[in-house]
Amino acid sequence: MASGSDEGMGGLNVVLLGAPGAGKGTQAQLIKDRFDLPHIATGDILRAAVAAGTEVGLRAKAYMDKGELVPDEVVVAIVADRIAEDDCADGWLLDGFPRTVPQAEALDRTIAEKSLKPIDCVVYLSITAEAVVERLSGRRVCPNTECGAAYNVETMPPKAEGICDRCGTGIIQRDDDKPDTVRQRLETYEKRTSALVARYRDAGVLAEIQAEGTPEEVSERVLAELGSVE
Ligand code: AP5
Repeated sequence: MASGSDEGMGGLNVVLLGAPGAGKGTQAQLIKDRFDLPHIATGDILRAAVAAGTEVGLRAKAYMDKGELVPDEVVVAIVADRIAEDDCADGWLLDGFPRTVPQAEALDRTIAEKSLKPIDCVVYLSITAEAVVERLSGRRVCPNTECGAAYNVETMPPKAEGICDRCGTGIIQRDDDKPDTVRQRLETYEKRTSALVARYRDAGVLAEIQAEGTPEEVSERVLAELGSVE
């Protein structure tokens, strides 16, 4: 696969792209540990802002509850500040951003303006709508914003029922994982995000990964792809 990296300019810059429930968060845990990258998940940042009751959180909540995207300018500002921080100098892992063409354009501008290394690889987790609905109905998450671990009652249950393995907090269902909101999120993905697949394929940085199969099987495919970029 073609790479946008320049030698000697730090580690990997990776974007995780895919429908809601494709497994971005699950694979992100593995990638960030394997490549020692800061994990920047806009969904997690926005949920933390909602929980903290900040101005951004109050604005974002109305959109998130409906399964719609938070306005581009809100998310773009968050990510532009975050990837300019010192811990991102040796690479970063973006999860859930960009999600619209204007967000992708803004990311390109940030990279150019701050003279950052370009994206090395966009890992596109490809999955059917049926599989998404099945996964999200079984998802449970740790509400502790310091932890945020994700489980699935069918495929990845915690060791003790209802309790996070990592921090011992009681796990919950996300508000936006209710069936009507999941349907809306899928529609939003098709309308506003799916165009990014062609954009990054044309740029020569897309790695399309079949996201069905066990989490371990998917991880093997992702690591094989990133190993060839590294
Ligand atoms: P966000 O939190 O980013 O949600 P999402 O993209 O809808 O993705 P999910 O977190 O639902 O799924 P995932 O792909 O991470 O899958 P996971 O690994 O958890 O965004 C939430 C909201 O915030 C958006 O709707 C929007 O309003 C707002 N927002 C965020 N970013 C934004 C942006 N850039 N612009 C505007 N608004 C933004 O897996 C799902 C389930 O499946 C889990 O239960 C997991 O255990 C299970 N699972 C994972 N892999 C497998 C497997 N291989 N086999 C079986 N089960 C599996």
